[in-house]
Amino acid sequence: MKIAFFDTKPYDKPSFDRFGEQNGIKFKYFETKLNEDTAELASGFDGVCVFVNDTVNAAVIDKLVDLNVKVVALRCAGFNNVDMKYAFEKIHVLRVPAYSPYAVAEHAIAMLLTSIRRIHKAYIRTRDFNFSLNGMTGFDLHGKTVGVIGTGRIGKAFINICLGFGMKVLAYDKFHDTELEKSEAVSYVSLDELFTSSDIISLHCPLNDETYHVIDGDTIKKCKRGVVIINTSRGALVDAEAILEGIKSRQIGAACLDVYEEESDLFFEDRSGHIIDDDILARLISMPNVIVTSHQAFLTEEALANIAETTVNNLVEFAKNGQCPNELCYRCGSAEDCKLGKCF
Ligand code: NAI
Repeated sequence: MKIAFFDTKPYDKPSFDRFGEQNGIKFKYFETKLNEDTAELASGFDGVCVFVNDTVNAAVIDKLVDLNVKVVALRCAGFNNVDMKYAFEKIHVLRVPAYSPYAVAEHAIAMLLTSIRRIHKAYIRTRDFNFSLNGMTGFDLHGKTVGVIGTGRIGKAFINICLGFGMKVLAYDKFHDTELEKSEAVSYVSLDELFTSSDIISLHCPLNDETYHVIDGDTIKKCKRGVVIINTSRGALVDAEAILEGIKSRQIGAACLDVYEEESDLFFEDRSGHIIDDDILARLISMPNVIVTSHQAFLTEEALANIAETTVNNLVEFAKNGQCPNELCYRCGSAEDCKLGKCF
């Protein structure tokens, strides 16, 4: 099987080459992202392998179908960049449902601790032999209330770490996790209660029509003054302009953002020599209490190996059977329960 691999970074190749060679999958690496202008590169390939900022909209799907490309293998869990409804019965879409929830949960915690204990400031100060502690006062996590939106794999890993810190956990999810529901340490509450009662809010739900801008100007007003917002899920879960306003008005105490709504033209690339046109992002980055990382939460050795192994297994399974357990249904976003669109 020949696969066109888009948005390739140096850290992708070693594990994809290793698992690909072992299983007869040949990857051709393209640095460019997949979009309407680059879809032509998939000519002569059986499938494409794409990541979070590649575009798989209706126009790209039509182009891929014209080129006789049979399968889109996402090397990530989220699939908001794929027009699933349009893809249905035209092209198969496979994904990696989980590769290391710990990688993302631990990154969320790393950002939280960095921000509230001012580690990013301390690092720069001490490198300059400035050993002053002025302005470095943080707060204990122990005893604080964290609100977790989305209690799937990553949300649960995040909750476990928070419980280790001695935090009180409030959770919101459209579908309650039965284990967590039984736990005395975690309470499922309404979104409103989560907003009004949490000192820290962390987002671990997918981006869809219901969750778009789940944190916006109105919800920020409901939050406790000084709330810390963590977003390691998808940028458009928060209204970045509202976050900036919240930071400026001091309503938000800190924001930890691994994802950004307009990230696709910026993240994963070295833009250090460029003028950044995005004033909201530039202003956010200039704030002492905002930490931005470049969609990095997944990036651990363990996750990279799991991503490559599962993607290759998905493709092998698809080549053998014409479908695979990690194929997505456009309606429920899962293959496990519905078996490809039969859920409606
Ligand atoms: P998951 O599918 O295990 O959990 C998602 C949870 O969100 C589920 O419990 C689901 O019921 C819940 N949910 C669905 N719709 C909801 C709604 N309207 N309101 C509240 N909750 C809702 O997914 P997982 O593996 O925990 O990943 C979560 C998200 O993390 C992914 O969708 C992806 O966007 C993001 N992610 C980010 C990465 C990064 O590098 N920054 C890497 C991997 C995932």
